[in-house]
Amino acid sequence: MAKVLLCDDEEALCRGMARLLRSASYDVVIADGPGGLERLDHESFDAVVTDLRMPGVDGFGILDAVRTKSPSTPVIVMSGSAEVPDAVRAMRSGARDFLVKPVDLKCLEEALTAALGLSNTPAPVADPDPDPLAWRDRNAPWLLGNHTAMQSVFSLLAQVADTDCTVLITGESGTGKELVAKSLVAGSARAKKPLVAVNCAAIPSGLVESELFGHARGAFTGATSTRTGRFAEADGGTILLDEIGEMDPAVQSKLLRLIQDGVLRPVGDDVDQKIDVRILAATNRKLDSDVASGRFRADLFWRLNVIPIEVPPLRHRMADIPLLAEHFIRRFNDKNRRAVTGLSPEAVAALKQYNWPGNIRELENLLERLVILKGTGTVGLSDLPPNLRHTSAGHVTPLANVADLPTDGTDLRAILEAVEDRMISEALERSGGNKNRAAELLGLNRTTLVEKLRRKRTATTAS
Ligand SMILES: Nc1ncnc2c1ncn2[C@@H]1O[C@H](COP(=O)(O)OP(=O)(O)OP(=O)(O)O)[C@@H](O)[C@H]1O
Ligand SMILES: [Mg+2]
Repeated sequence: MAKVLLCDDEEALCRGMARLLRSASYDVVIADGPGGLERLDHESFDAVVTDLRMPGVDGFGILDAVRTKSPSTPVIVMSGSAEVPDAVRAMRSGARDFLVKPVDLKCLEEALTAALGLSNTPAPVADPDPDPLAWRDRNAPWLLGNHTAMQSVFSLLAQVADTDCTVLITGESGTGKELVAKSLVAGSARAKKPLVAVNCAAIPSGLVESELFGHARGAFTGATSTRTGRFAEADGGTILLDEIGEMDPAVQSKLLRLIQDGVLRPVGDDVDQKIDVRILAATNRKLDSDVASGRFRADLFWRLNVIPIEVPPLRHRMADIPLLAEHFIRRFNDKNRRAVTGLSPEAVAALKQYNWPGNIRELENLLERLVILKGTGTVGLSDLPPNLRHTSAGHVTPLANVADLPTDGTDLRAILEAVEDRMISEALERSGGNKNRAAELLGLNRTTLVEKLRRKRTATTAS
């Protein structure tokens, strides 16, 4: 009999749920927040179900205690629908599942069954490879980068690649999300099985369902034969749902069902097919804000976001530019029969000062153009397009290598200020002076931005 700790400060609700779970043969202990903590100190549980908002000790306190005392015990959190960001945070802190209150008791039971089943499978290896670069070299040598920002990505990859965990890969356009997905597959037990990549934004909305799940003959006008969907093609392997943020709500529910039950039902068919597919999803949208605004299903988001991997923008890892540039020069020399030998130090410095809104793809395209046009010899500053040349000339404070500490030290405050100035002016420029939009682009609230602008104005008039 599985022993479950149920924490909620609403006693009546707790008792009701406990009664039902007991009738389903669970051994249930009920407690409020502080009581739950105390129980966890002295007893062990097979699963914990906790409310998020409770006086005294909240759900995060319970989650923390479980994580330190008994990390393999699954925790299911419950919370009101208005507390989406908290729920997201709870999932990130290791909660196994999330239920919206009022909790449907059948859902709770299902979640418990699933969580208890999962806790019996071996947990992801905590520290499989102490050296993330070594993992990369062995599994995904094509994924270049030595910057610490990328090493964190490799280290996550090393920890989750060889599991069947759903992974949500986020990052700006062109940062390498698809390459990261391929690297995950390469380091997994499914490496030799199919990887099917689907761009959810590229399929006309009426066709998404049949594209993903397949259809039976005669399912709709024009369905003259049975069609195997992309999920079925990926059976035994992995599917990458790219641009998942663009997925139609109706398709979102069907996908949720597939993830929960491991079965799919082709359009117009009346039988379920059992399927074994690892799901990776990628997006350049901020999915948690789409959840908050109701564009994206919260429950699907939690299912997908079991392990989030954020690929950093190129401007946060400028030190990798020489390495990437060399790689692309070699590649485009071969492809286009050219013999460019490299970049001059001034050209490298200019590349390191540019903002790279299109990230690695933009760098890649630029280098292909430069290699073709230059043909031989070294690419110098004057070969670069004007917008790149100007960034290098226009700034007094060197922004190159901002993430690397020079051997002779640096003036951190000046660098941070220069970065801030530059980002703020760019945000204002891009938003056409609209402070709300600029604040959004910078991840600040409007008041903070206005205050920063005011301080800068005062500083300029004072000097
Ligand atoms: N770390 C890296 N090392 C080498 N090449 C890279 C790296 N990251 C990305 N690239 C290259 O940059 C290009 C863009 O990468 P990718 O298509 O994976 O980006 P993405 O994040 O999926 O972009 P989008 O958001 O537009 O779909 C590809 O040609 C890829 O091979
Ligand atoms: Mg992509």
